[in-house]
Order: sequence, then C-alpha cells, then structure tokens
Amino acid sequence: MKNVKLNNGIEMPIVGLGTFRSKSEDVYNAVLDAFEAGYRHIDTAMIYGNEEAIGKAIKDSKIPREELFITTKLWNSDQGYESAKEAFNLSLKKLDLEYVDLYLIHWFKGYELALDSYRAMEELYNEGKIKALGVSNFNVHHIMKILEHCTVPPTVNQVETHIALQNVFLQEYCESVGVKLEAYAPLMSQHINDLLTNETMIEIAKKYNKSVPQIAIKWLVTRGVIVIPKSINKNRIVENFDIFDFELNEEDMVNIKKLNQARKFFPEFDNVPF
Ligand SMILES: NC(=O)c1ccc[n+]([C@@H]2O[C@H](COP(=O)([O-])OP(=O)(O)OC[C@H]3O[C@@H](n4cnc5c(N)ncnc54)[C@H](OP(=O)(O)O)[C@@H]3O)[C@@H](O)[C@H]2O)c1
Repeated sequence: MKNVKLNNGIEMPIVGLGTFRSKSEDVYNAVLDAFEAGYRHIDTAMIYGNEEAIGKAIKDSKIPREELFITTKLWNSDQGYESAKEAFNLSLKKLDLEYVDLYLIHWFKGYELALDSYRAMEELYNEGKIKALGVSNFNVHHIMKILEHCTVPPTVNQVETHIALQNVFLQEYCESVGVKLEAYAPLMSQHINDLLTNETMIEIAKKYNKSVPQIAIKWLVTRGVIVIPKSINKNRIVENFDIFDFELNEEDMVNIKKLNQARKFFPEFDNVPF
C-alpha cells in the first residue's frame, strides 16, 4: 500500500473505501472486508447516514486506531461556526472515535459559511480532534479564499475525478498551494457502465491482465491522486485494492489522458442546489 504525505506531515493511504449509498446493513461488512483486503482508509460523511455502522466495524476489527485513516464531512445545513462544531461532535460520537483523521467541508455554500465553518474546524484541529483539515467540491477561487483567511491550511480537496473528468488544471493549482487532490466517483459512480465499456480502457486492461476499474484506479494513483472507490461487494473491494503490483507505462497514461471529456455527473461547484 502507498501513502501520501499531507502538508502537515500526516500520512494518508492513497486508496480508501468509499461509502456513499452504502447502507448501514451493508457497510459494516464492506468495511471489515476492506480491512481484510488491506485497506486502512475509509471515507464517509454525516449525510451518508452510515457513520454508526462504520464505527462499529472499526471497533470490531480490533485494528489499532493509529493504523486507520477515517474521513468524514460537514454537511451543508450544518455549516457555520457553532453548528459545524456541533455537527463534528455528533459525527465523532456516531463513529465512536476520539478523533477523525480528515474532516472536509462537503460542498461550497458561500464564502461566509465556508470561513466560519473552517474557523471552527481549526479549533477542533488545535484540540487534536481532527488530524487534517480539508474541503470538497471546492474550485480554485474557493480555495484561494480559505488560504487568505486560514491559520491551518487545507490538506485535501476531494472532487469528482475520473477518466471523463480529469481535473488536470485543478490538480496543478492544488499542488501549487500544497493541497492534495482526492478523486471521488473514480469509477464514474452510477455511470460506471460507460467506464466498463470504454474500448481504450478495455484494451489497456487486457494488456496488463487487469480489470478496467483497476486501470482507472491505478491511473489516478500514478497521477498522485488519492482515490476512494466505493463497493459493498467483497470481490470488487478486493479487486479495487489489487493495483500495487504493476505500473502503467507512459504511453497508456497518455492514451487515458486523451479520454477527458470534461463530463461532470455531480453538481457544479457554485450554486449547489442542496
Ligand atoms: N465529496 C463528495 O461530494 C462525494 C460525492 C460522491 C462520492 N463521494 C465519495 O467517493 C466515493 C466513491 O464515489 P461513488 O461511490 O459515487 O462512485 P464510484 O466509486 O466511482 O463507483 C461506485 C459504483 O461502482 C460499482 N463498483 C465498484 N467497484 C467495481 C468493480 N470493480 N467492478 C464493477 N463495479 C464496481 C459499485 O457497485 P457495488 O457497490 O455493487 O460494487 C458502485 O455502483 C463515495 O462512495 C464517497 O465516499 C464523495
């Protein structure tokens, strides 16, 4: 397994398990299956409604807490100074943890709410309840505003990123200010069929004796992007993590780069309708 070092020295496993749309009754086993396969990084959010089940799986796994990397997120209606603190403490309680490794503002909902929420998160960081701060669904101008006002810089920006929406420029900007790009929907989420049937991807997968999802994940990891494929199926959980025994060559990296279509499935960064 490979880690990336965040700008505050914290190590984050480059591949984690996504849990959006993973129901509590499924996510418990999915997290245990992921741990068995070697994952140590789980991505959740208050709005997914599965933090309690994930907390129970963490506890039952008996893996030492310091070996795990757990991310959760501040939901939109909880943004604001006081409400962010309350929401964070509720997430911590549901996860049954003493701290989370990464806490993200889930979506940009205006500068004032973002800055007030971030100030609350900085205090929680200074109290040791959060090991790294970050944002999600933030564009360049949103990150610039946080950087202008913060005392603890963000470490990660989690955004939709896959072969059809590659975010090359956003990654360049983020890296220029010390922020790592993290890819959500790396398998194109509910449009996964478009990934699985992509002819270029099928051809490359055959060449390496790997599956198309494995190539999609490896391509992100090779770019230095953190990636959190979601699955509740044991075989697919194992498959998505089995990407550390081969390297994509330069030519195939370029061939995948050509698949970019700037095709976004999730809402645009500004004026999010929820
Ligand atoms: N910050 C945000 O706003 C935001 C938004 C969306 C997602 N996320 C995070 O990012 C994670 C990943 O995104 P996502 O869940 O939307 O989509 P995704 O990981 O791109 O795709 C998940 C879909 O692919 C299927 N799948 C997984 N591995 C497969 C494989 N090897 N072969 C075939 N099918 C496979 C899954 O079904 P099965 O479960 O049946 O395998 C599921 O239908 C989320 O779970 C969440 O943690 C964050």
